[in-house]
Amino acid sequence: MSALGWPELEAAVTSCVACPLHLERRRTVFGTGARDADWLVIGEAPGANEDRQGEPFVGRAGRLLNAMLHAIGLAREEVFITNTVKCRPPGNRDPQPAESGRCGPYLDRQIELLAPRVILAAGRIAAQTLLETDAPLARLRGREHSCLRGGRRVPVVATYHPAYLLRKPIDKRAAWEDLCLARSIAARAS
Ligand code: URA
Repeated sequence: MSALGWPELEAAVTSCVACPLHLERRRTVFGTGARDADWLVIGEAPGANEDRQGEPFVGRAGRLLNAMLHAIGLAREEVFITNTVKCRPPGNRDPQPAESGRCGPYLDRQIELLAPRVILAAGRIAAQTLLETDAPLARLRGREHSCLRGGRRVPVVATYHPAYLLRKPIDKRAAWEDLCLARSIAARAS
């Protein structure tokens, strides 16, 4: 995986049969956005809309994500958006560790190729997967972490998933603080 460029990596995802999630998918969801973006947003997994359209965050949660990005001066097209797994888990269940494990090398290579200034991990699954921890999101959000990919340390900010914020708008203030933290990290000299 570590030798693949963007086109080869995308082709590998499109034809992937490494775990049973391929059996029920309609489309793989590789990720969209600028392939030289400063920001990488990582969600959990494609849902029904994403599975149909082959694009991440296209439903209601996606519209909120767009609004969150807009609020800090970023257009959706300026960031790269993907998920921890590239195929929809049936019934929108959480991805299982074995599935995330098989899909992980794709995400790792995306991080290496992009070399973003900051990663925004949206939701518990993305944060725990990336940071290799079982800690609850409430303990992970609100501060800077990092992950090592391709020999490079990449700053990570964990925040609430937009789908959660649709159910719990009271936590939007905390998510705003997380976004401001990520913005300050992306703006600082590297
Ligand atoms: N939720 C996610 O985590 N990812 C998507 O792409 C859509 C909804």
